[in-house]
Amino acid sequence: MKVLIIGASGQVGGALASLCVRRRLEVYGTSRRGQGFLYLDLADPSSVAGAFKAAAPDLVFLCSAMTNVDNCEREPELARSVNAEGPALAAEECRKAGAKLVYFSTEYVFDGASGPYGEDAPACPVSVYGRTKLEGEKAALALDGALALRTTVVYSHNTASKNFIMQLVSNSRSGAKMRVPSDQFSNPTYAPELAAAALDLAGLDAAGVYNVVGPDWMNRYDFALKACAAFGFDPAFLEPRLTSELGQIAARPLKAGLKTEKLAAKLGRRLPPVEDSLRKIAAIIKQYE
Ligand SMILES: NC(=O)c1ccc[n+]([C@@H]2O[C@H](COP(=O)([O-])OP(=O)(O)OC[C@H]3O[C@@H](n4cnc5c(N)ncnc54)[C@H](OP(=O)(O)O)[C@@H]3O)[C@@H](O)[C@H]2O)c1
Repeated sequence: MKVLIIGASGQVGGALASLCVRRRLEVYGTSRRGQGFLYLDLADPSSVAGAFKAAAPDLVFLCSAMTNVDNCEREPELARSVNAEGPALAAEECRKAGAKLVYFSTEYVFDGASGPYGEDAPACPVSVYGRTKLEGEKAALALDGALALRTTVVYSHNTASKNFIMQLVSNSRSGAKMRVPSDQFSNPTYAPELAAAALDLAGLDAAGVYNVVGPDWMNRYDFALKACAAFGFDPAFLEPRLTSELGQIAARPLKAGLKTEKLAAKLGRRLPPVEDSLRKIAAIIKQYE
C-alpha cells in the first residue's frame, strides 16, 4: 500500500511517517521545504496535483495546516486558502486517484462553552483557525469514505517542533518564565499514539468524524505540572494565568476537550494515560543529556 503524508515535516506527519516506515509501508511525505520530501503547498493547486501524480497513493493523511492560531487571525485569507481550500484540492485529487483520505481536524471547531464534546455536538468555532479548519473538515468529508480525526494539544519530543512540551523543556533549561493558562481545559494527546490510532482507524476503513485524544481532561497548567514532575523539573518557572491575561489575538475555547467513546468502540482501546506518555518523553530527554 502506498501512503502519502501531506505535511510529513510537521509533528503529527513526522510521527506518522516514522510509524509507516516501521510498519514497512511505502510512504511519501510532503513539505514546502524540500530535501527528502515531495514539494506541496496547499495554496498552490499545481503542486498538490504534482505530489499526487508522483506518489499515486492508496491512502492519504492530510496533516498540513496553518496551525498558528494567532497567525490565522492576522492572515485570514491565507488561512482560508491553506486550511479550507487546500483540503478541497486534496479531496479532489484523492477522488481521482481512488485514495482514502484521512483529515486531521481540531477541537477548535467548538466554542469551549461545554466540553468535552462528542463527535455529534454542533460545531461553533470562535476563531479564524477554527472556522477554516471546520471548512477543511467539511471539504474532506464530502469525499466518500473520508475520515476526519479531531484532536487537540498534541505533544511529543521533537526538536523541530514548538509543541507545548518542547516549549516547556526549553523554558525550563533557559530559566525563562513561562505563562501558562490555568483555564483552558482539554485532552493532551501524544503524537506517536495519535499516529498509531490514525493508521489503525484507516486500516479498519473507519469513515466520518472520530475524536482521537488522550484520556485525561485537564487544564494546561496542570498538564505543565505533570510534565515537570515526570521530567524532574522544578516548576517554579511556570506562571499560571487566566487566558484573558495572556493577550492572545485569537479567542480560545476554554472548557474544550473531546470524548473518545466512539474511538474506544471502534479500536478496542483508548490512548494511554498522560503519565505513561510523559514517562516515555522523560526517557528520551535523559538520553539527550
Ligand atoms: N498540534 C496540535 O496541538 C493540534 C491540535 C489540533 C489539531 N491539529 C491538527 O493536526 C494537524 C497536524 O498538526 P501538527 O501539530 O503536526 O502541526 P505542525 O507541526 O505545525 O505542522 C504543520 C505542517 O503543515 C505544513 N504546512 C504549513 N503550511 C502549509 C502549506 N501552505 N502547504 C502545505 N503544507 C503546509 C508544514 O509543512 P512545511 O512548513 O514543511 O511545508 C508542516 O508539515 C494539523 O492539521 C492541525 O490543524 C493539531
